[in-house]
Amino acid sequence: MTMGMHERLLAKDATMSVVGLGYVGLPIALAFAKHLKVIGFDINAERVALMKQQIDPSEELEAADFDGCDITFTADPEDLKNAQFHIVAVPTPINPSNQPDLTPLLSASRTVGQALKMGDYVVYESTVYPGCTEDDCVPVLEKVSGLKFGPDFKVGYSPERINPGDKVNTIETIVKVVSGSDEESLDAIARTYELVVKAGTHRASSIKVAEASKIIENTQRDVNIALVNELSIIFDRIGINTYEVLEAAGTKWNFLKFSPGLVGGHCIGIDPYYLTWKSSKLGYHARVINSGRYVNDAMGAHVGKQTVKRMLELGKNPLESRVLVMGLTFKEDVADIRNTKVVDVIHELQSYNIEVDVVDPMASPTEVKREYDLTLKEAPDAGAYDAVIIAVNHAPYRNMSETDFEALMRDEKGVLIDLKGLYRNSIKRLTYWSL
Ligand SMILES: NC(=O)c1ccc[n+]([C@@H]2O[C@H](COP(=O)([O-])OP(=O)(O)OC[C@H]3O[C@@H](n4cnc5c(N)ncnc54)[C@H](O)[C@@H]3O)[C@@H](O)[C@H]2O)c1
Repeated sequence: MTMGMHERLLAKDATMSVVGLGYVGLPIALAFAKHLKVIGFDINAERVALMKQQIDPSEELEAADFDGCDITFTADPEDLKNAQFHIVAVPTPINPSNQPDLTPLLSASRTVGQALKMGDYVVYESTVYPGCTEDDCVPVLEKVSGLKFGPDFKVGYSPERINPGDKVNTIETIVKVVSGSDEESLDAIARTYELVVKAGTHRASSIKVAEASKIIENTQRDVNIALVNELSIIFDRIGINTYEVLEAAGTKWNFLKFSPGLVGGHCIGIDPYYLTWKSSKLGYHARVINSGRYVNDAMGAHVGKQTVKRMLELGKNPLESRVLVMGLTFKEDVADIRNTKVVDVIHELQSYNIEVDVVDPMASPTEVKREYDLTLKEAPDAGAYDAVIIAVNHAPYRNMSETDFEALMRDEKGVLIDLKGLYRNSIKRLTYWSL
């Protein structure tokens, strides 16, 4: 009897490749490489060179995580011909018009297509709209390889749920949704993932169901955050603190715990656009999801305006004011600056000709310069600012006291803008505002 794909992988008679070694691809490649023979491929040769030295360019993993792994890192697409089970984990961004940009995904599909052989498997992990794997990627695989989807090669989709910076919810501990193009591939893909996902797999009934499940996880979060963001705009006008209202409402057993904030990063603020795009192609203009996106995308400018308003109330002239923004990354305690909405706050302040200084203990100054043309300051100036915005709750900021903030202010009439309401019970003298 011929061995199935899972057995062949286990016997190292077949090799796995992981295409795209970023936040998602590298951890999964290393996890599999503890059990299987793996080829880790990335188009970025600089990143590959780092990984060969056991350095994770995304700064999530330690050198020890590479120990005991049967993995070869490469930037040469030819090497993919030695693999039979391909996992694709490349970025799925949006373009400036908020529409899906499938360039990396289709390019990776071409790369895999040129290496595809009879009997191979291709499993996509990138977040996409339902239908993308079968309608957009498979035709590329077929065209480039000259093989026929179904009889010649099989496809699956298994969305990634990891949360950068989170050491509790990891590949091993989160149930993984898996899907395949037929019963046999579903079984082989599920059993292969079960090697590394201790929490087990959920076998979705189809590839489209698996794709949709991922996109709604993030859409649900986005819409819920949009609701509390809108509530925060309303409560601001009423003159009550949103966090205090949420605390009170949160004592009910079924009240959902979401807090207001900037929705940045490359997942929650982006994935819903994949779904609304697909929906509009099918003739339905998604109202709730798009409203949520609209509210969340406007929060950075809202924070900027509220800062200016508080400064004007204190008689400060924006043209002569300096504001310090503390934290630039898309969320706390990570180095990731992709799609950070703190930039919207900065741009709003700059539109009033305010001089803005930005500090961040996690972000790389070179990347910030390249991505946003902003110069990160190494340390804030003492006694220099009219307002300080705590935009991201990085660990070193969490223990700051009112005296620390006062030391940063130009005079006693300073404004403290605290997006996450962290200091709301401890600021007595400065002018305080939170979402
Ligand atoms: N980061 C997360 O927390 C997370 C969580 C769940 C899902 N996702 C999804 O997973 C996918 C990957 O995200 P990520 O955060 O790992 O991205 P990333 O930017 O960290 O990494 C992507 C890697 O792919 C490489 N790459 C780009 N184009 C390529 C190509 N054509 N061929 C080979 N390699 C290529 C890049 O050089 C980079 O190393 C996206 O669809 C994302 O939405 C991410």
